[in-house]
Amino acid sequence: MTDMSMMLGPVALRSPLIAASGTVGSVVDFARVGALEAYGAAVAKSVSGTPWPGNPAPRLANAGAGMLNAIGIENPGVAAWVDEIGPLLESLPVPVWGSAVGKTVGEFVDVAGQLAATEVEAVEINLSCPNLAGESIWALDAGATAAVVKAVRSAIDKPIGAKLSPNAQDIVGIAGAAVESGADWLVLTNTISAAAIDIETRKPLLTRTTGGLSGPALKPIALRCVLQVRDAFPTIPIVGCGGVRSGSDVVEYLLAGASAVAIGTAHFERPRVGRMVMKQLRAYCSRNGVDRLQDLIGGMQPW
Ligand SMILES: Cc1cc2nc3c(=O)[nH]c(=O)nc-3n(C[C@H](O)[C@H](O)[C@H](O)COP(=O)(O)O)c2cc1C
Repeated sequence: MTDMSMMLGPVALRSPLIAASGTVGSVVDFARVGALEAYGAAVAKSVSGTPWPGNPAPRLANAGAGMLNAIGIENPGVAAWVDEIGPLLESLPVPVWGSAVGKTVGEFVDVAGQLAATEVEAVEINLSCPNLAGESIWALDAGATAAVVKAVRSAIDKPIGAKLSPNAQDIVGIAGAAVESGADWLVLTNTISAAAIDIETRKPLLTRTTGGLSGPALKPIALRCVLQVRDAFPTIPIVGCGGVRSGSDVVEYLLAGASAVAIGTAHFERPRVGRMVMKQLRAYCSRNGVDRLQDLIGGMQPW
């Protein structure tokens, strides 16, 4: 039987699968429909310092090879999350990671601090949210990324992951800023900016016109980010994220250099997809004589 455990920096994972933030609610709700035993960790929906109302509907749309969303990180704020979800974390059959967002560095620090004081195993810093300037996101700028990661790093003792954006022109530069500022791992990636139009109404499918594209169309882009970052920083642990819905998708990310792989959009179609992915992964390993899954990390053979 293949050993499916992985090390992600300081965190030991029983499985390489992570349930991606925003696609499994608070994790508590997902426990009723998902197959949490298949995952090494599950990331709760991002929370901010004060409640964020989110964007008006329609904020989800089918975009052919993927899904468009512009939820706007609707969330009840960290205090409500800590009160309502915090006490339930221990009862879940999977380690939970919190996810912090903020419009200022101080808001990130406040949220991460409050999350870290609960039973969460780690805190993901979602740098793909807008900063106070409104139109830009943190993860497009190395200085802004470094400021957030550094401040959170010095404020909490729990492991932190920095979740980056495929919209970044220089993903290696942004990754470098996060690593040097103390991130324990990088999550590559969040959604990519995209749009679609209803030709009958001639309106965009989303009220905000543009949103984030996730699902199969994102996979080759996120995989490219993993390859580039792994090449530049061979020792930084990476969570590959984008379009994973099968065991072979996981193998691809591992070969590219990821140590774990997050599943998002696939949960909407198939909440127990994690169970199927692990089955396919085991079949691949037994077909290929892989005793330890970690032996696949970075195993891509160049031409
Ligand atoms: C409806 C929806 C909501 C999301 N909300 C969040 C969020 O709150 N925080 C976050 O870090 N990522 C969020 N994401 C991004 C996912 O965690 C993931 O990075 C992205 O969807 C790519 O993975 P996938 O192709 O497997 O879905 C959201 C994605 C979707 C589709």
